[in-house]
Amino acid sequence: MARLKLAVLISGRGSNLQALIDAAAAPDYPAEIVLVLSNRPQAQGLAHAAAAGIPTTVVDHKRFAERALFDAELDRLLRGHGIELVCLAGFMRLLTDAFVEAWTDRMINIHPSLLPAFKGLDTHARALAAGVRVAGCTVHFVRPEMDEGPILIQAAVPVLPGDDAAALAARVLAAEHRCYPQAVRWIAEGRVRIDGSRALIDGVAPAHHILINPGA
Ligand code: GAR
Repeated sequence: MARLKLAVLISGRGSNLQALIDAAAAPDYPAEIVLVLSNRPQAQGLAHAAAAGIPTTVVDHKRFAERALFDAELDRLLRGHGIELVCLAGFMRLLTDAFVEAWTDRMINIHPSLLPAFKGLDTHARALAAGVRVAGCTVHFVRPEMDEGPILIQAAVPVLPGDDAAALAARVLAAEHRCYPQAVRWIAEGRVRIDGSRALIDGVAPAHHILINPGA
């Protein structure tokens, strides 16, 4: 069966990209990464893609006078590569509504909190400051409002005594690396239906939409 064609958009380290590369290396994984795009020329993740033999393109946002022009270039590249699903993986640029709408239900994001809590940046420091006992991550479809959209999967991890933001981030990141390949798999298997603000996953028990303290 044809594998779903993915583009992964990054801005930095690329550890979620690497998790997707590793998952897609399995012969039975139903998706393949055909393009990695970065808005930053120095993004470390570009090397992960190159090492895996995946074509990379840098679209440096600084070269564009307007967001709409940057997004138009992204759109052109994605269409040119026949991309079927766009995966934002630490892509730290806000996208225009027009771009998001053009890719509605075909673009997903990973966010390092249990949405709708802690949208935006510095999620771990804010979670610690709020004194939450449980943190986590979310993979969701992208909508024009930042960090909103139907949720595919979430993982919950404990906040432990003595955690600083780096320790909590590392625990959440390990969960991210399990969630993202799973969410992509469900979409590639054609199991996902969107019903208003909710994503429904056929043939997967609801309990499997959440990973609790993965790795424990
Ligand atoms: C990840 O923790 C991801 O959830 C977060 O950036 C990190 C990227 O790490 N994304 C956001 O904060 C989006 N608002 P990575 O480059 O190693 O995958």
